[in-house]
Amino acid sequence: MRSRHWHILGAGSIGSLFACLFDKAGISCSLLLRDGDPALTQTTRRIQLRAGGLTSEHSFPVTSGAHAAPIHYLLVCTKAYDLVDGLAGLQPWLAPNAVVVLLANGLGYQQTVAARWPQLAVFSGSTTEGAFREAGQRVLRAGRGTTWIGGRGTRDAPDWFSDWEAIDARCGWTEDIDTVLWRKFAINCAINPLTALHRCRNGALAEPGLADEVRALCLEIAAIGQAAGQGEAVAGLYRSVMEVVAATADNRSSMLQDVLAGRPTEIGFLTSFLVATADAQGIDATHNKALLAALQPAIHPVS
Ligand SMILES: NC(=O)c1ccc[n+]([C@@H]2O[C@H](COP(=O)([O-])OP(=O)(O)OC[C@H]3O[C@@H](n4cnc5c(N)ncnc54)[C@H](OP(=O)(O)O)[C@@H]3O)[C@@H](O)[C@H]2O)c1
Repeated sequence: MRSRHWHILGAGSIGSLFACLFDKAGISCSLLLRDGDPALTQTTRRIQLRAGGLTSEHSFPVTSGAHAAPIHYLLVCTKAYDLVDGLAGLQPWLAPNAVVVLLANGLGYQQTVAARWPQLAVFSGSTTEGAFREAGQRVLRAGRGTTWIGGRGTRDAPDWFSDWEAIDARCGWTEDIDTVLWRKFAINCAINPLTALHRCRNGALAEPGLADEVRALCLEIAAIGQAAGQGEAVAGLYRSVMEVVAATADNRSSMLQDVLAGRPTEIGFLTSFLVATADAQGIDATHNKALLAALQPAIHPVS
């Protein structure tokens, strides 16, 4: 019997997927809801996971930070714009030195978290797993991917990473999570905002006209990445982006889904962060600034 217990903040699509994968591997975890969430009147949540044509049922304790204290192992799967507030709400309930794994997309919040909570053992993750909630608490694992975790200059995987190695997913430890995060960030910056602007599926970015826009964006993103010391992350960016476009041609990007559903987007942690990085480095970001401006009418502000 394992002694570690993981709490998951952000029991949405990807948080529910990892909760189910942990449960399948016999790793104990519970779901953290906001104080006052009506769902807290229930003590457990049942989640149905559909994966590879099979459906499995999983049951988790649901709790709020106050009742979960002290929290020793925390996985954060909120959207990027909810992450800092979500963590702040849990602060009183986190054990000193708690292990915190941040799995939201985008860049920018990592620096805020490191500056505000230097006492926590904060690690970052990046996943290409795909999940969405089909209805209620039914989650579809839409695609298998790879999850990389690392941080704090930790070369060898800590003991707790054995939990991640035990789940039915490709999970790896990396000494250089920054390169992994930047690479995914760069690819997301090239695909997500454009698909949201043109309200198209990913595959449309390979069509004449849009492919030229993608190429111009990639050149600029790569130059900004180089200037920010992320040359390795942005090497061959256009080729990588077009590979992702081809492999996910039928998909709607998460940003397009958010725009269509009238939800806030993670643009503040993608193109906005990229443009701020370019300005700080004195690098041209004409294409990305124009994209950001064109997107403004479609973007719902984060309240
Ligand atoms: N879904 C995927 O396939 C996928 C793949 C790779 C990466 N990602 C990234 O993973 C992150 C999460 O994506 P997602 O698709 O799972 O989003 P999601 O379905 O919207 O889930 C986010 C969850 O966080 C909850 N939440 C936010 N603030 C909270 C708080 N303070 N306390 C408790 N719960 C809180 C939300 O609750 P409410 O709904 O009540 O606000 C929601 O259930 C994003 O950064 C996304 O880009 C997702």
